Amino acid sequence: MILVTGATGTVGREVVAQLLAAGQKVRAMTRNPMCAKLDSRVETLGGDFENPASLTEAARGAERVFSLTVGPQTGLHERNLAQAAKAAGVQHIVKLSAMGGDGETKNDIRKWHDEGEQAFREVGIPLTVLYPGAFMSNALHWRETIRAAGKVFSNYGDGKLPSVHPRDIAAVAVRALTTPGHEGKCYTITGPEALSVGEQVKILANAIGKPIEYIPVPDEIIRAGMEKAGLPSPLINALLPFAAFIRSGKAARVFPTVQEVTGRQPFTFGDWARENVAAFR
Ligand SMILES: NC(=O)c1ccc[n+]([C@@H]2O[C@H](COP(=O)([O-])OP(=O)(O)OC[C@H]3O[C@@H](n4cnc5c(N)ncnc54)[C@H](OP(=O)(O)O)[C@@H]3O)[C@@H](O)[C@H]2O)c1
Repeated sequence: MILVTGATGTVGREVVAQLLAAGQKVRAMTRNPMCAKLDSRVETLGGDFENPASLTEAARGAERVFSLTVGPQTGLHERNLAQAAKAAGVQHIVKLSAMGGDGETKNDIRKWHDEGEQAFREVGIPLTVLYPGAFMSNALHWRETIRAAGKVFSNYGDGKLPSVHPRDIAAVAVRALTTPGHEGKCYTITGPEALSVGEQVKILANAIGKPIEYIPVPDEIIRAGMEKAGLPSPLINALLPFAAFIRSGKAARVFPTVQEVTGRQPFTFGDWARENVAAFR
């Protein structure tokens, strides 16, 4: 049986669906099982990364674990899960981390993930780490301004980003969880092409069938918007330097990982846009 954490989120739902399609027995952990709305074949279990006893329960009997959590407490969350997994005799963990620069350019989100990765390494369970780039689904953040005004505001300038379909991240995770030879590997995962926000907006406009204007704005405007939306300040402070990294042009590299691990081409942003037109109308 495979324990999937983060099972109700963007990537986790895809991991659950693809594991079921591969004939695997799945246990999904969520803080709120009543709202999880997962397939009836899934054993849905209440659990919280901040509650070690609940993790002990979640890991009991699991052979493999998909670890996905969010926020500045990621290191603590995964330290708790690492202990529970060790006690339960888990044989392999696949951890979702994040691309995020190296050395001096490493952003805070990646540093939170590195703490979690370290916690898994310390307990010595075979580990696979996934470093995805920006998710294509981040474009859903543009929904409100597209619906209200036909506009997208961003501080990414003309910087290009090879954003990745969450389904492709899940596909790599599922391969790693269900086929041999992925223990000890680290996979950087991107989509097939680097696009600027302006280029993404054109693709989205084509898919929706209405014009959308891209308006580059400075960091201060984006910071104010994120504060108004109630984003926690550690996240805001991590996202702004990430935008600077994208503007620098250094985030554009495409990696062939999806093709190499799954044997098929990754989805394009156009594919994602066509699947998600309803969200923007
Ligand atoms: N967005 C990007 O561009 C991007 C790029 C690279 C990496 N990432 C990484 O991807 C991850 C986010 O993935 P996502 O977008 O699929 O997530 P998401 O849709 O935001 O969902 C978060 C999931 O985490 C679970 N969760 C959060 N706190 C928890 C806790 N204390 N205990 C148990 N479960 C908890 C939630 O479960 P319940 O609410 O059901 O309990 C939910 O299933 C983050 O680690 C982020 O750093 C994101």
